[in-house]
Amino acid sequence: MSFGAPMMLPGLQRDEHWYQRGVYYEVLVGSYADSNGDGIGDFQGLISKLDYLQWLGVDVIWVPPFFESPLRDGGYDVADYRKVLPDYGTIDDFRELVTQAHARNMRVLIDIVINHTSDQHEWFQASREDPEGPYGDFYVWSDTDEKYQDYRIIFVDTEESNWTFDPIRRQFFFHRFFSHQPDLNFESPAVQREVFDIVRFWLDLGVDGCRLDAIPYLFESEEGTGESEPETHEFIQRLRAMVDDEYPGRVLLAEANQWPHEVVDYFGTDEEPECHMAFDFPTMPRIFYALRSQLKGELEEILRDQLDIPKGAAWGVFLRNHDELTLEMVDEDYRQTMYGWYAYDPRMRINVGIRRRLAPLLENSLDEIKLANAILLSLKGSPILYYGDEIGMGDNIWLDDRDASRTPMQWSPDRNAGFSTADPGKLKLPVVQSLVYNYGHVNVEAQMAQSGSLLHWMRGMLQLRRQHPVFGMGSLEVVETNHESVLAYVRDYRGQPSKRHSGDRRERILCAFSFADTPTSATISLPLDAGSRLFDLHGGQEFPRIGEDGEVTLTFGAKQFYWLYIADPEFVDTATSAISIIRPDDAS
Ligand code: NOJ
Ligand code: CA
Repeated sequence: MSFGAPMMLPGLQRDEHWYQRGVYYEVLVGSYADSNGDGIGDFQGLISKLDYLQWLGVDVIWVPPFFESPLRDGGYDVADYRKVLPDYGTIDDFRELVTQAHARNMRVLIDIVINHTSDQHEWFQASREDPEGPYGDFYVWSDTDEKYQDYRIIFVDTEESNWTFDPIRRQFFFHRFFSHQPDLNFESPAVQREVFDIVRFWLDLGVDGCRLDAIPYLFESEEGTGESEPETHEFIQRLRAMVDDEYPGRVLLAEANQWPHEVVDYFGTDEEPECHMAFDFPTMPRIFYALRSQLKGELEEILRDQLDIPKGAAWGVFLRNHDELTLEMVDEDYRQTMYGWYAYDPRMRINVGIRRRLAPLLENSLDEIKLANAILLSLKGSPILYYGDEIGMGDNIWLDDRDASRTPMQWSPDRNAGFSTADPGKLKLPVVQSLVYNYGHVNVEAQMAQSGSLLHWMRGMLQLRRQHPVFGMGSLEVVETNHESVLAYVRDYRGQPSKRHSGDRRERILCAFSFADTPTSATISLPLDAGSRLFDLHGGQEFPRIGEDGEVTLTFGAKQFYWLYIADPEFVDTATSAISIIRPDDAS
């Protein structure tokens, strides 16, 4: 597969805002590309696909756990934090991945799973066997299973309690997730020191950031709920101070599936910062709700209710990832409605969520997939794509747990979708062969060959986004429309004066989306932009001018969107290039 002209390898460019500007791509090593034909994706396979990711326009790859693990939770059950899973390659292969990504000006984010380990970790083995030994207090042990009765259970489909009896130590151990994932005891200074050293180990290796898995659950207390205890925040503040001090420019990303007013605490304050980034969990289900209900209501509300976050902090926004589409951030009515629409077969449900990929969720409607991505790529926050969604890959609900949407990447119509040369029976997870999403036609090679494919469209969107720093750096203000199906907001960014530009280098972009299933016209109120002109960001075409009353009426096809450049009335040059008035390299 060729990606056009030979790739230039630009090298890692300095940019203190990389984590705010970039487009992220989550890639599971074991499911992406198998270099040695053993049926398991590996680092060398991923390295061989970096040109593809560069071509697509990805800035940051997020690589979920690849450490030694019994793989009973997709690697989030770590057995040794400093060893990589031999199936994926060696630590030198991982080093090469980082070097090769950096050579292409791509950053690498990895997962640091510190709330719990696998029960196979030697710390746990030592802890259960020798309560008085150096690892005796590394986990949360109790003679009864009665402590913390008010704590919620997260994996409700598999676990009945957060306590499990260990027949060797003859005590119960606490676990927020699976019973094979004992929680580390953060009250122990030795545990805290180990965690710092693990983070240092990977930052020394050159990774650019760490996703802090399950971060709310580090500390437990009798009074609290074991979520976001004050000690947890204090610990993260200290971790951040260490990172800023020893590894300036690297970032921490919080995984906290909570309401925005709770998650913002994980950014900390200007004086006592915690994480640079945090996932935005509540916006995602509301995008899916709006798509089916044809109502912008709750999505608009959550976008209006933006909370102040410290300077330099950023949300991570997403549509799908390696987990279920979680419905924890919606109320029960809403959740049941979404199950009805999106998980009509009970097999599609898991815990409090839906284990399906983007394209099948949206019934493979290209218009809806594009609309959802256009929202994602224009929200305030760094967009995170999930591997395979750029080609509209399907899922396999006959597989267990969240493996439904972790199947091999579909590269070509060849054996095993070009993922591996192994005997098909040897693959850990089979490639998708369903009627609609069969790898024979849903694959990178076929979409590369069609200029109108989803893949080329995604690439075009990423290129466009890159030309406009407003998307990564600007503010977002929801504006009124007179239609319940039409959502509109303005992204606004004022760049600093630079050598190349002087004067007002403000960029304002109107993003408008229709969730209606039929053509619609809506009037949008833009009082601050009365009399301004509108140009389509894609092609530079001029749209109706905003009236002196600050209103403009736009017509939308079904499930259609616009990204429109708002230009002063005097703006005359309608050439597309003139629309990118602030280049990324000018912005600061
Ligand atoms: C969050 C991860 O995203 C998920 O995949 C995992 O199962 C849990 N943490 C528990 O480790
Ligand atoms: Ca392999």
